[in-house]
Amino acid sequence: MDNKIKLLQDKIEQAHAGGGPQRIDSQHKKGKLTARERIHFLMDEGSFEEIGMFVTHRSTDFGMETEKYPGDGVVTGYGNINGRLVYIFSQDFTIFGGSLSETHAEKICKIMEMALKTGAPLIGLNDSGGARIQEGVVSLGGYADIFYRNVQASGVIPQLSAIMGPCAGGAVYSPAITDFTLMVENTSYMFVTGPNVVKTVTHEEVSSEELGGASTHATKSGVTHFSCVNELDAINHIKQLLSYMPQNCEETPAILAYKPDQDESRASLNKIIPDNANQPYDVRGVIDQLSDSGSFLEVHKDYAENIVVGFGRLAGRSIGIVANQPAYLAGVLDNNASVKAARFVRFCDCFNIPLLVLEDVPGFLPGTDQEWNGIIKNGAKLLYAFSEATVPRITVIIRKAYGGAYDVMNSKHIGADMNYAWPTAEIAVMGAKGAAEIIFKKEITSAADPAAKLLEKEKLYAEIFANPYRAAERGFIDEVIEPADTRIKLIKAFKMLENKVVNNPRKKHGNIPL
Ligand code: HXC
Repeated sequence: MDNKIKLLQDKIEQAHAGGGPQRIDSQHKKGKLTARERIHFLMDEGSFEEIGMFVTHRSTDFGMETEKYPGDGVVTGYGNINGRLVYIFSQDFTIFGGSLSETHAEKICKIMEMALKTGAPLIGLNDSGGARIQEGVVSLGGYADIFYRNVQASGVIPQLSAIMGPCAGGAVYSPAITDFTLMVENTSYMFVTGPNVVKTVTHEEVSSEELGGASTHATKSGVTHFSCVNELDAINHIKQLLSYMPQNCEETPAILAYKPDQDESRASLNKIIPDNANQPYDVRGVIDQLSDSGSFLEVHKDYAENIVVGFGRLAGRSIGIVANQPAYLAGVLDNNASVKAARFVRFCDCFNIPLLVLEDVPGFLPGTDQEWNGIIKNGAKLLYAFSEATVPRITVIIRKAYGGAYDVMNSKHIGADMNYAWPTAEIAVMGAKGAAEIIFKKEITSAADPAAKLLEKEKLYAEIFANPYRAAERGFIDEVIEPADTRIKLIKAFKMLENKVVNNPRKKHGNIPL
């Protein structure tokens, strides 16, 4: 017995040694943690249980039969994060560069299936040279097996991908299918083809970082939702993100214990909107006042900044917030903002996270760039996402709600449950000046003083439409509220809506405009 236990212990020790001290050292020198260190920092202490520690590859080509490492370059298993069950795979770059062999893929698929069966989130820590080159097509098949399971799990369990090293070629498509991607600055990159291929095909010279580093994907492509300063920052982001989500689509997010403030009113909100309707302000100031102190986690912070999306809490209840950002491009809706918000809305709806919309939008951005890049189909994505969402949905029109954007931004007409407006709201087809120029064109051009006439007509249009009351008279707005009272109203309304049930018509699946 003793000998057998010793043999087991030796094997465990060998597995824990990964690709050996030199390769671990080189990993550390790059500023990266090992696969096991990452799990150690992410999971509750002592909770991680490994599955498949002794799996090795089956490859015999290129002398591979003599080079085997227990685990085959990926650590898989389950454990707890803040007491909640999660499944995890963590690629070990010290073993064959974390490359994906047939058995490496089988290990990942096994825990994906367990996560799906038991309804718990799946976390992937990616650090891999891609397909195990020595294995050829079986490795490609392994990737496809993972992609297929990512899709099966989509909308059933939350799936998070952290990129902590290379992630290239088709390997990028697993993170792309998952719900959230996090990248680490300077040590991770994602691209379909690397700089060398780019140079050969397009003659562009570009570094890995510029082509597919964290800041590129956080600002230019929107591929990553979070750009983290280091691996521990990424690990903390994963923990925080998970805290807003339920375990699976059948559950609702946990409501944190909440001790009501003495006074839930927020007097400063009565002064937050500038007197001049064209003056910008940062909508994050409104979000901070409305949500529980320090609870807002912004998603896609540096991408399509004209719309702000993220998770927050209201009296302990997890909510998704979508807010136009007047401080950037006047909060206009464009291609990127529409897609960013649509994806976020759909995530919240998948996982029963109620939605709060803060609206101050001058409309859709005009221009050839927008039209040729598909603002029609992209704007439709947001319209579609809100319209199909069955979670509790509340809108607060803070200032502008112009044109088609009024409809799109979670209007009553597309199924919002409660629509509030501040007295500063302007709900109209367009701004007063543009409207006056069109409908009073003849009167203005034939006037002795066209500029004065325009101003007069602009004022007239503003008096009639630059307010929330026309919409409130119709019931499109449920209540015009003092900004200071907004938090109180929202807390009550989300509580009132907590048992909301809506059944969309039975269908195989909808056909969102892609
Ligand atoms: C097998 C690999 C490997 C791979 C790296 N290694 N990538 N082994 N298959 N794909 C091994 C190396 O041989 C080396 O082994 C160790 O991992 C570390 O690699 P280094 O090159 O020394 O590390 P570094 O200098 O940091 O460079 C990392 C790297 C580079 C940029 C990832 O290794 C690289 O370019 N690898 C190939 C990437 C690639 O083209 N992959 C296929 C992509 S196509 P030793 O024994 O020396 O430690 C693809 C298709 C997927 O993935 C399709 C899905 C549909």
